[in-house]
Amino acid sequence: MKLNVVAATSSPACDVLIVFCGSKTNDVKNNKDKTQTFVVSPKAPSLIAETLKNISSDRFSGAEGDILFLRQPKAPHFLLLGLGEAKKWTSENARRWSATVLNCLKTEKAKSAMIVAPSGLAAQDAVSGFSEGLLMANYQFSAFKEAPKNKFSVEKVDIAVEKFSATLKKILEMSQCVAEAVNFARYLGDCPGNFMTPTQLGKEAESLTKGTSLKVQVWDKKRIEKEKMESFLGVSYGSDQEPKFICMEYKGGAAKQKPICFVGKGLTFDSGGISLKPGAGMEEMKFDMCGGAAVIATMGAIAKMKLKINAIAFVPATENMPGPSANKPGDIRKARNGKTIEVNNTDAEGRLILADALVYASEQKPALIADAATLTGAMMIALGNIHTGFYTRNEKLRKNVEACAESCGERVWAMPLVDDHAKDMKGYYADLTNLAPSRNAGSATAAAFLESFVDKDIPWAHFDIAGTAWNVSGRLPYITTKGASGAIVRTFIEMAKNHK
Ligand code: BES
Ligand code: MN
Ligand code: ZN
Repeated sequence: MKLNVVAATSSPACDVLIVFCGSKTNDVKNNKDKTQTFVVSPKAPSLIAETLKNISSDRFSGAEGDILFLRQPKAPHFLLLGLGEAKKWTSENARRWSATVLNCLKTEKAKSAMIVAPSGLAAQDAVSGFSEGLLMANYQFSAFKEAPKNKFSVEKVDIAVEKFSATLKKILEMSQCVAEAVNFARYLGDCPGNFMTPTQLGKEAESLTKGTSLKVQVWDKKRIEKEKMESFLGVSYGSDQEPKFICMEYKGGAAKQKPICFVGKGLTFDSGGISLKPGAGMEEMKFDMCGGAAVIATMGAIAKMKLKINAIAFVPATENMPGPSANKPGDIRKARNGKTIEVNNTDAEGRLILADALVYASEQKPALIADAATLTGAMMIALGNIHTGFYTRNEKLRKNVEACAESCGERVWAMPLVDDHAKDMKGYYADLTNLAPSRNAGSATAAAFLESFVDKDIPWAHFDIAGTAWNVSGRLPYITTKGASGAIVRTFIEMAKNHK
């Protein structure tokens, strides 16, 4: 799908012209017929306003979510989208409308379209929102299916704004990188565990170096042993798949500028290990590398966008399986920083692999560390699948994260992390235990465990994406109803863009 930014015109050459409409419903209580439908997009053909006068408000009132396709004798046909009462819109509104637009274009087999951004939506938000929304909504995971015959695709969409500018064109290019990164993270997550092994995940990261200055190194088991990452290795012992430690580096800033650092959980399949998970829904545990996928995709976008920053990323990648050499409950492993850990539940493996990665990341003395992990079921209980919960004790970083998420339309929620949570993770036979005494506040105790592997002087935020990494029941209209969502990629890219 080719996207362009253009200036709005009343006679575009395309199959479908998308026009936003609003409705005034003030009079509804007294007199239903007084619903007023009006065109919000500028420069819409006057024919549309004329037609609306003759359409009953029962059919199309311009209410939020209302759609009307007006077929004309010849193209362009009109797709009217209701927005409800006029207000200020954000880029996230545009992302969500885009999904409706794309579905309709596909149903109507329209090859080309123009979206005329409504007034009330800033031009840059229209460009980023519509482009990202369309590209994300256009994602399909069909790598493991026979190619469909006569596959239909929308070829071209022009995003029309009141005034074209070079800045908007640049924003479009950046947004395409963002959407591509989100879709790449989704692809990595959607691939089945037998294909997306730690080795394959490493290859996928390497594939991003093509045409960019990104550097990727994938450590094998020998190297991981040499690096004394025994907490990480312990998790891998139950599997036949070789663990990999993926290191990524991008240098776009001054040599002395401290890098931003991302760490992601790359658990390519989590069976639970000896503390085996129940069978129902276990197939979802192929998504347990979505944190790693988000980090890999973010680094790819940073390199493509040629951001003037330095960035590094680390993804410990392994399966968690109950093979004969697997961790057994009660086993003790020593992490890279010398701390010992009692593995009291082999299903709490994410924190074990992240521990070594966070120690290594801290040694690189980055400006900040942000990690992403599908870490705990407790996170889903706490926040469902609407918000990504994040933990940080650094106020400045918390505010920065919130601002970044807000501006790119992702939802995050700051969760509490205090010393009492850390107390729960003290071991009896070892320095630490990977299992808190109670399930309650399980995502906070997991965060406290991770914190003990991060250098105290480095601002650190942990994102538990267990609830948001895959779409549930159409939560986001631009994400397929089932499958990886690419959650936190947009926020991470925004954090990189704001990094100084
Ligand atoms: N990958 C899971 C977390 C998870 C569970 C994500 C369900 C998405 C949906 C993680 O490795 C895990 O199993 N965590 C355990 C920890 C517990 C044993 C302390 C959990 O949350 O049950
Ligand atoms: Mn687990
Ligand atoms: Zn897991």
